[in-house]
Amino acid sequence: MNERAHPEALGRSLEDSAFFMPFSANRQFKKAPRLLARADGIYYYTPEGRRLIDGTSGLWCVNAGHCRRKIVEAVQRQVATMEFAPPFQMGHPAAFEFADRVVELAPPGLRRVFFTNSGSESVDTALKLALAYHRARGEGQRVRLIGRERGYHGANFGGTAVGGIVANRKIFGALVAGVDHLRHTHDPARNAFSRGQPRHGAELAEDLERLAQLHDPSTIAAVIVEPVACSTGVLVPPVGYLERLREICDRHGILLIFDEVITAWGRLGKPFGAQHFGVTPDLITTAKGITNATVPMGAVLMKEDVFRAFMTGPEGAIEMPHGYTYSAHPLACAAGLATLDVYAEEGLLGRAAELASYWEDKAHALKGLPHVIDIRNIGLIAAIELAPRAGAPGARAFDAHVRAFEKGAYVRVAGDILELAPPLIIEKPQIDELFAIVREVLESIA
Ligand SMILES: Cc1ncc(COP(=O)(O)O)c(C=O)c1O
Repeated sequence: MNERAHPEALGRSLEDSAFFMPFSANRQFKKAPRLLARADGIYYYTPEGRRLIDGTSGLWCVNAGHCRRKIVEAVQRQVATMEFAPPFQMGHPAAFEFADRVVELAPPGLRRVFFTNSGSESVDTALKLALAYHRARGEGQRVRLIGRERGYHGANFGGTAVGGIVANRKIFGALVAGVDHLRHTHDPARNAFSRGQPRHGAELAEDLERLAQLHDPSTIAAVIVEPVACSTGVLVPPVGYLERLREICDRHGILLIFDEVITAWGRLGKPFGAQHFGVTPDLITTAKGITNATVPMGAVLMKEDVFRAFMTGPEGAIEMPHGYTYSAHPLACAAGLATLDVYAEEGLLGRAAELASYWEDKAHALKGLPHVIDIRNIGLIAAIELAPRAGAPGARAFDAHVRAFEKGAYVRVAGDILELAPPLIIEKPQIDELFAIVREVLESIA
């Protein structure tokens, strides 16, 4: 065991550490750290060597399981061969190969890829592409962007603006002008304890028509939604909802963007969530599982006509003045190519579909446990919503998170919702192991 990984072993407290942790309760964490030191397959190990089953695939990203040898070795080879290549006006073969491999898996028509380094960058890239696409076609008046309440689209300016989680927005001022939001689809009065897609709520898609009429449809560039809104606590789209959004976008020439940072790469039993739902957007944003999270990477996939709109003007002109130093980073491409090999060799992109009904039964078997007010699931995702403690929203689920850590599971929480989405390599006995710990936790928290 690496002793340096364990600050207590060095007799050092983290309380005054320089590290400003993201999306974390810094002071609380540093008083009682929950540290991870090693990972293998579906397990994390703490610095003391305690094993934790990974109930949320790291942060919904390690879809093929941890420290996969093939991916690790591909990155090791690449870092020793060419650690970096400039992506502007230069290239390296793996970037082209990886783009082709990604679109082979994509829904029909999404044939082009712009690489980024994260989900947040993918979202801001897609929003910029949407605005620039309309302008390139002579519709520069389409400047409005529509998101959805409770949506999460990363932490950059555009994504924060179209996002709809209030705590993530309210301290950052006016954000981006011209943004509006659809209502969210969460309706526990009608849909609590739904298995898979809830029956009620397709009509909420008509909110897009309402906003289109409010602002004039010809001013709207794009609408962005997560097919399943995961970070807010797993809101599964009602039956027919995504289809209606597609119809309204078509009616008004609005681009439909699916933010598939989580729902792609097998989480719903297909390469992309769009394929699971049978609804094809104009652009897809993704990241996370694209490299099994081994090296940061994101991507924006787009339909051919979006790409074509930019391929005009003099041949020597730069068509898209946008990109990042690390776009198509060689280590990310190496990791991505190896990841797609692992997904293909092990059939992982279809595995959630095979496990879905077993997973669903195990999740819904928790109904009736103390504090459980809703259970939702789709693919290899489940959420268990707890009644909040009076005057202390989030406290009960946070206690569950800490208790799970003590009992041998890593389970992420959002507000008072436990979010489960294990690596796709999980086996049925390990699903049992995970839910047994969650059950014990729910039975033990106040
Ligand atoms: C739907 C969605 N979009 C964007 C992001 C942001 O991705 P990143 O944290 O890689 O920037 C996330 C992260 O969870 C996400 O779930």
